[in-house]
Amino acid sequence: MATAVFGMQWGDEGKGKITHLLARDAEVVVRFNGGPNAGHTVVHNGETFGIHQIPVGAFYQGVRCVLAAGVVIDPWTLRQEYDELTDRLGHRPLVEISEAAHLILPYHRLLEDLEGSGAKIGTTLRGIGPAYRDRAARCGIRAGDLLHPTDLEARIGAVLAQIRHSWGDDPRIAELSVKGIVEDLMETVRPFLPRIADTARLLEDALEQGKRMLFEGAQGALLDIDYGTYPYVTSSATTFLGLAQSIGVALAPVSQRIGVLKAYTTRVGQGAFPTELDDVSGGERLRERGKEFGVTTGRPRRCGWLDLVALRHAVRLNRPTGLAITKLDILDDIETIHVCRAYRLRGEVIEWMPGSARDLEPCEPIYETFPGWMSSTREARSVAGLPREARAYVDAVSNALEVPATLISVGPEPEATIISGFESI
Ligand code: IMP
Repeated sequence: MATAVFGMQWGDEGKGKITHLLARDAEVVVRFNGGPNAGHTVVHNGETFGIHQIPVGAFYQGVRCVLAAGVVIDPWTLRQEYDELTDRLGHRPLVEISEAAHLILPYHRLLEDLEGSGAKIGTTLRGIGPAYRDRAARCGIRAGDLLHPTDLEARIGAVLAQIRHSWGDDPRIAELSVKGIVEDLMETVRPFLPRIADTARLLEDALEQGKRMLFEGAQGALLDIDYGTYPYVTSSATTFLGLAQSIGVALAPVSQRIGVLKAYTTRVGQGAFPTELDDVSGGERLRERGKEFGVTTGRPRRCGWLDLVALRHAVRLNRPTGLAITKLDILDDIETIHVCRAYRLRGEVIEWMPGSARDLEPCEPIYETFPGWMSSTREARSVAGLPREARAYVDAVSNALEVPATLISVGPEPEATIISGFESI
């Protein structure tokens, strides 16, 4: 039985909590896209963790944690997380790495900084874009290359020579030594070398054997490289559409697909956000109540109302069988809640999300309002235990998207979850 979890908005939907909850029944947990730009917040046995690179299966002893081909790996972040988790959890995570996964090397982060992507796109500055760019340009270094390190110096040297051509005046680039990078790299990846393999084959076997598998999406549908709000997107495929390509198994039989959405919307970085609230009209209140600050970068997140138009787009890309609605409790003390049902674009009412930034930017939200419940949902553990208005809100979202709400989260702890109609993985 395979279950996949996807973000339905611009990331930060609370996938960390949901995947951590589901991973406790899993035998194999797979990250299939992105890299250390992801920041999953997990509360495990009362302790809070922020993890970026290792799949959440790491919290449970004996669960295989696979980094599939579609992932980019920062070896230094991976090692640091591996050591920290080993230390704090008291067991070693079982990490398996696809030989086809690309590595983020020190020059990728520097390039992103020098090229100004932080300011232009609002990227996380983790070297994600430059590493995926090298993959497409066919000069990337893959995990499998670490098993045959003899030509690493020559290959990294050739890339560095190109970079010096454009950026050689920058002292940080001038200082980079090929030998230094390779030595440090090989020392850092030492514990992982026996675990680099053709993970597509391993995953195919595991699927055929009916292992309990969890695919852990990073970022969200609206940040997808092709179908997100381009160019203000990440560099990988973030939806169910991209899953098969990223793990290397065609038509992966993923029978449960959980689309995770926050009860309101947030975004970090640049780009259109039709339902955004400025600080005076409620954005700051949501940010403070929801602790909406990036796990990876600490940046304040932009906040706004739920957007059903954007969510319908995410439904099309992921075909979820169930929704996980998170942070419902953050709306507990809001008197009137708004939900965007349609956009007005240059005078015309539309119910679909335009594919280009040029058309999305002028879209104005058309709202429906819901009375708030003005009481705490934090202790609710069943749908019946929710206030009537909160149930009406959840039902309205689920009906509009035509997907049942199978998980409702009312707090960061794993226990603070209402599970309704969800089959264990
Ligand atoms: P990059 O992935 O670092 O290249 O950043 C591209 C865009 O995706 C920026 O707007 C980032 O803020 C956003 N982004 C990347 N990863 C995440 C995430 O895990 N959560 C939320 N936003 C993200």
